[in-house]
Amino acid sequence: METILEVKGLSVGYARKGLALEDVSLSVPKGSIVALLGANGAGKTTLIRAVTGLLSLHHGHVTGGSINLDGQPIQGQPAHKLVRMGMAQVPEGRLIFKQLNVEDNLAVGAALLPRSKVKERLEAVYELFPRLQERRKQAAGWLSGGEQQMLALGRALIASPRLLLVDELSLGLAPLIVEAIYKQLIVVGRTLGTSMLIVEQNARIALEFAATAYVIERGRIALSGTAEEVASSDLIKESYLGSARKQPAAAVMVERAQT
Ligand SMILES: Nc1ncnc2c1ncn2[C@@H]1O[C@H](COP(=O)(O)OP(=O)(O)O)[C@@H](O)[C@H]1O
Ligand SMILES: [Mg+2]
Repeated sequence: METILEVKGLSVGYARKGLALEDVSLSVPKGSIVALLGANGAGKTTLIRAVTGLLSLHHGHVTGGSINLDGQPIQGQPAHKLVRMGMAQVPEGRLIFKQLNVEDNLAVGAALLPRSKVKERLEAVYELFPRLQERRKQAAGWLSGGEQQMLALGRALIASPRLLLVDELSLGLAPLIVEAIYKQLIVVGRTLGTSMLIVEQNARIALEFAATAYVIERGRIALSGTAEEVASSDLIKESYLGSARKQPAAAVMVERAQT
């Protein structure tokens, strides 16, 4: 299968810290959804930073390995160039502009689009998330958490990226809203052919929507396979889904959502 993103043997360190990623390999096949799962501090965000060219902003550096987009090495490329190559991300914490209204936030994501395309893409985002259209003139800071996440996704998707990276989509959101947003991502994949790497602490939801999954522990890939294989592994059942006997799943999710 053709891959859009290929990470091979990647190691990353931060100033005054040992390695945050060690020999990490991962690939995203074209048009598919891949989940990267792991506990808090495992190295998920670090991987996203390395792929999106934002490591140096956080005083991190690649110490080994390679990152290829469409077979081309992209390591060391600045973030804005990667955006032009078709990459978009929804960062951890969403980072929308709270004082700007919804439509102006979306305009930020459309900055690189040719003028003639903006209206059509804006309408496509509104079709995906009608709530954003209803609230288009409202300051983003007044939106609910779920709506803010839709806005962050809309801002990334308005440019029709070929590769979308989403960091902790479900964090702090009610399960029903998370489910609804993921369903729209499936629509995006079907209609735009967008490939996605989704980072989640919430293994249950990610495994429901992803085709393949990787589990990262203390900077290393501990397990990978199809979503079914990973979901039925002992590691995932014990560490990430919680044992049904000990703790109801909903409690596990709420606990994680609050960290
Ligand atoms: N800017 C930074 N400087 C130093 N250490 C960092 C920095 N960002 C993250 N780390 C460390 O790197 C490790 C991985 O962090 P991170 O990638 O944020 O994990 P995750 O996203 O899985 O929660 C953690 O030990 C964290 O403390
Ligand atoms: Mg993180």
